[in-house]
Amino acid sequence: TSSTKSSYELVTLTTWLLKQEQAGVIDNEMTIVLASISTACKQIAALVLRAPISNLTGVQGAVNVQGEDQKKLDVISNEVSDSTGKLNIPTRSSSTAINQEHDARVQVFSNCLKSSGRTGVIASEEEDVPVAVEQSYSGNYIVVFDPLDGSSNIDAAVSTGSIFGIYAPNDECLADVEDNGTLDSVEQRCVVSVCQPGSNLLAAGYCMYSSSVIFVLTVGTGVYVFTLDPMYGEFVLTQEKVQIPKAGKIYAFNEGNYALWDDKLKQYMDSLKEPGDSGKPYSARYIGSLVGDFHRTLLYGGIYGYPRDKKSKNGKLRLLYECAPMSFIVEQAGGKGSDGHQRILDITPTEIHQRVPLYIGSVEEVEKVEKFLA
Ligand code: AHG
Ligand code: MN
Ligand code: MN
Ligand code: MN
Repeated sequence: TSSTKSSYELVTLTTWLLKQEQAGVIDNEMTIVLASISTACKQIAALVLRAPISNLTGVQGAVNVQGEDQKKLDVISNEVSDSTGKLNIPTRSSSTAINQEHDARVQVFSNCLKSSGRTGVIASEEEDVPVAVEQSYSGNYIVVFDPLDGSSNIDAAVSTGSIFGIYAPNDECLADVEDNGTLDSVEQRCVVSVCQPGSNLLAAGYCMYSSSVIFVLTVGTGVYVFTLDPMYGEFVLTQEKVQIPKAGKIYAFNEGNYALWDDKLKQYMDSLKEPGDSGKPYSARYIGSLVGDFHRTLLYGGIYGYPRDKKSKNGKLRLLYECAPMSFIVEQAGGKGSDGHQRILDITPTEIHQRVPLYIGSVEEVEKVEKFLA
């Protein structure tokens, strides 16, 4: 492959997706779902870019099911009511404020997925329960997503991101929607269809809203990086078959929690600060935005960790929306994702908002922390 491409040879995400489809790597429905997600990401990028101007920042006052404040953009990026006004299954939100937001605002991620006509069930970090989408066309892919991760960074214009994962269609959940089954039964079926181990993922990716807008995608054939060209409004392929370095001397942990950690983990952290033979200890880098911290780790090597601690028994990050998609991506790049003892992708969730400890990055670095924790 030539390293000097003229602008006529730039590969856009759209072209890349069509090539994958032609090659039989993904089907037509998956192509449309991924295109819809990329459109959602472009819209969220525009909202994030203008956030201080639009005066959309600040705590909205609602608290999501996980007890966190939802920033306005978390809510807008999520979108539950669809653009046609047909909301198929109402979500059981504990917060009326969030429901008012649903009625009032264009909320991006779910809208794009629903209007794709190719999703059966969608589950979001910001929603209490998964939502069954009326079968409007075909495909019925199951999409899990965190529409705006790291949203506490928004007010300071620091990196944020969106994360998503796509599972194979599961028609059981939809059958009940068409039969007008009881809400409980539809909800339960949706939860069951969404609660799959990450090893079943067909595709996963994230979009990082930073100095560049970066869309990272895997459909199970390596990791591809696209960069939003602001001149054309298109994602352009900028890196293919990304491989994470086997080792890397950068760690990203919230060390403010050190006193709450297990002794074994403290010993691991202390070891990273030993200058060792090279005379140079590890470097600490922590944005507090999984997407940004992960993207740096993917390119430069090293480790990102969100351990369990005395207060948070399973850490903070969610298996479905954060840990599993990122682990699929890191494995596709030759790295490793672990809860400290086992492969993240082997864990079957028992509840949709389940949290797990996460250690992710270069193989050697993840194996090192596993040894300390054993
Ligand atoms: P979210 O904004 O979607 O709720 O998730 C934020 C996550 C993740 O992005 C980040 O790595 C982590 O929270 C940071 O947590 P601490 O502030 O506890 O370090
Ligand atoms: Mn959140
Ligand atoms: Mn998140
Ligand atoms: Mn979020």
